[in-house]
Amino acid sequence: MRIIQDQTEALGTFAADLIAERVADRPDAVIGLATGSSPLPIYAELAKRVAAGALDLSAARFFALDEYVGLAGDHPMSYRAFLDEHVIAACGLDPAQLRVLDGKATDLHAECIDYERAIRDAGGVDLQILGIGHNGHIAFNEPTTSFASRTRVVALTQQTVDANARFFDDDVEDVPLLALSQGIGTILEARRLVLIATGLGKAPAIHSSIEGELTSSVPGSALQLHPKVTFLVDSAAGSMLERGEFYRRERDLIPGYGH
Ligand code: GLP
Repeated sequence: MRIIQDQTEALGTFAADLIAERVADRPDAVIGLATGSSPLPIYAELAKRVAAGALDLSAARFFALDEYVGLAGDHPMSYRAFLDEHVIAACGLDPAQLRVLDGKATDLHAECIDYERAIRDAGGVDLQILGIGHNGHIAFNEPTTSFASRTRVVALTQQTVDANARFFDDDVEDVPLLALSQGIGTILEARRLVLIATGLGKAPAIHSSIEGELTSSVPGSALQLHPKVTFLVDSAAGSMLERGEFYRRERDLIPGYGH
């Protein structure tokens, strides 16, 4: 499913609706969270609904996609800190509802194995939010990562390090070179995937993920293998799509499309 919205804000509302539907079905639904700027409209919308008493996330369980190696959870640039701020605190939740890979674990490999086990023990991820990097990476799975990969220690490409320097006061030297990341195989096991992308910079990655060849050179193209994936893109991120008109037609004609 490819949903193109002309209004960027509508993407956050759409994804929040999907999360609200999951939680209405099952209050303790397992929601996978992504970091980066792309999912922020989703998290802002969730916080708004919780504050208005329209959404109850108090029994939901959350897992993060990835974390930098070497940053403790209380480091302001850690993904734990990001999600604590934008989801846990913003929605008035208990930090214990969110599990994030521990980038300071003494045994990083054991931490990854534990994490996979924790996801399995929780019954798997019901709905996974995803962003996408400019080079098509999902979570921290850089180009040429195996589609069967599991949670593990990964190295970041220089392009990703440079892109993420903006979160480190533009000091590229401070960006960790290693991370822990759910694998593409792990992500594909979530029952529902929702990828959000906005802005012109993401247009090539969105085009190759949706319309390009299935190739490990574009990690996002792995989503073509998933039976229930929704790409939420604004018109800028969708501007290189060759079949954009058809995707809008699907969106407008199929009842309940994307739900
Ligand atoms: C990081 C994260 C990804 C995210 C990507 C894009 O590399 N590990 O999960 O999708 O950044 O971030 P942004 O949404 O800020 O462009």
